[in-house]
Amino acid sequence: MSAPRRMLLRALGAAAAGGAAAGSWLRMGSSEAAAATALDASWRVRYDRPLALPGAGSWWSPLPAAQVSTLSVVPVQRALRGHLATPLWAYAAEAKGRTVLNPILIGRPGDAVRLRVHNRITQSTTIHWHGFAIDEQNDGGMGTAIEPGSMRDCDWLIRNAAGLNWYHPHAGGTSAEQVWRGLSGLFLVEDDVSDRLRRLLGVRFGWTDMPLVIQDRTIDRTGAMPYAAPSAPAWSTGPADPFAEAARASVCTTSAGTAAPMHGMHGKDILVNATRFPFVRLPRRWVRFRILNGSNARLYRLGFTQGNRMVGAALLGTDGALLAEPQPIRSIFLAPAQRIDIAIDLRQATPGDVWLKTLPFDPMHAESDPARTLQDTASSDRPHAHGEQGEGALEPVLRIEAVDTDEAPGALPPAIAEHRPPGHFEDTERHFTLGQDRRGQWSISGAFPASTAEAFRVQRGARETWVVHNPAAGMPHPMHLHGFSFNVLGRSGTPAQPNGWDPTHPSHLAQDRGRQDTVLVWPGETVRLGVDFAHPFAGPQRYMFHCHNLEHEVAGMMVGFGVHPRAA
Ligand code: C2O
Ligand code: CU
Ligand code: CU
Repeated sequence: MSAPRRMLLRALGAAAAGGAAAGSWLRMGSSEAAAATALDASWRVRYDRPLALPGAGSWWSPLPAAQVSTLSVVPVQRALRGHLATPLWAYAAEAKGRTVLNPILIGRPGDAVRLRVHNRITQSTTIHWHGFAIDEQNDGGMGTAIEPGSMRDCDWLIRNAAGLNWYHPHAGGTSAEQVWRGLSGLFLVEDDVSDRLRRLLGVRFGWTDMPLVIQDRTIDRTGAMPYAAPSAPAWSTGPADPFAEAARASVCTTSAGTAAPMHGMHGKDILVNATRFPFVRLPRRWVRFRILNGSNARLYRLGFTQGNRMVGAALLGTDGALLAEPQPIRSIFLAPAQRIDIAIDLRQATPGDVWLKTLPFDPMHAESDPARTLQDTASSDRPHAHGEQGEGALEPVLRIEAVDTDEAPGALPPAIAEHRPPGHFEDTERHFTLGQDRRGQWSISGAFPASTAEAFRVQRGARETWVVHNPAAGMPHPMHLHGFSFNVLGRSGTPAQPNGWDPTHPSHLAQDRGRQDTVLVWPGETVRLGVDFAHPFAGPQRYMFHCHNLEHEVAGMMVGFGVHPRAA
């Protein structure tokens, strides 16, 4: 561990341990601090529903992936608001005679995932294994549609190291709605490195090692959870190739509030593990959270607070990979589809409430800025106040009641994994410009949509430099790459807001120290990614690169490409 890093970790501990050194968040004076405490007290009354934990009932139990033989996409009901039944869709897994809905799949490198997916809903679907190094046939993103009433077999090996991945539908035109309606689940990979980390932290999965899936939803007074997206009949029939379908669909048109807004589909409430107004009681020791932003479109700036104090945490991993060393963080932006693995020492807090909140920020929806060059034809009928629903506002996510314990506190190791520098990437760059096409649809490099299934070819084994440029007159886009993870090599033009979250590296965000498969690109930013296109799959394989604001993805903000073996 480097000297500045050691100092930082020490400073983080001291700052978080309280007293004057802690500094109040948002530079509050004492009257604001009192107001913050009063606000928390008012929220406390409402945040009283026990957080759904893994293994509670038939939902969400951990299952070894290798034991799952079938996964059925089924309609179900669940009480999400009071006792009202909300109609949802879920993955029903069969494993050794048990049925689990939206299971947390757990596997180790080398494990086989061999299962049959049955589609028992009324829309065509696919299953995409987000974050995995995988071949085209199993990726679930391209031409692998499973029509209603039919099925498809998945057969692949886990080639990833430890990390938090997930699975969700990826059918052309319907993925956003299907995820909104409940289709997604976690897929945890553990290996020797993560076993050691868990031992040192002394945490137990489902108790002090807690998965948190954060999703915003609106549940109306009847219990329904309407998805107000454009119905795009062009999607339901026609060719299986999502790109061909995308070419025929015209989504994102705003007709009196029924269309998915320009900013994607947002909900009124933030649910954690499908629990509205959740709380959980946790021992004052090290606890670990593995967090997925499973929202369609909402960005969060997560941080822990107690009264007017921020309680610092340590970032252990990003997306599907562990960091080499824990990285101190105070707050962190988490965009749709991104995952973080974090640990927090609750002994820094006094017994009582610690809040996981989304802290205030500017959502930077600047695509209607008068300075921009392209006309906002799709959504200019509505004024662009900042943020859809509560995006960017201070809001609780989870109330944690920190209680004293006899348990050993556990320890944060100074190093997690062997430090493997990413190595050299090619100097020639591949450029992508985010923005809107002439019709006002979100697109990549002006093409609406990626008009061929293979817009470009990459040589298998190439170490490419991808440069993603987001104009200032735009909005933040979480860009996701299938089949490969990448390193953020650098950022420029980063707005002040997210900049500087990594205090040791001003041009990086905290996540940029790790390997990612989804990177948030802010308006005005140019982000350079290093991608290693090595993989063991024979023959050409197609993948995609797209925005994981799911409404943007559906609108065609994606590009397909092929990875080809060197010609003989
Ligand atoms: Cu999470 Cu293209 O997917
Ligand atoms: Cu906007
Ligand atoms: Cu986008």
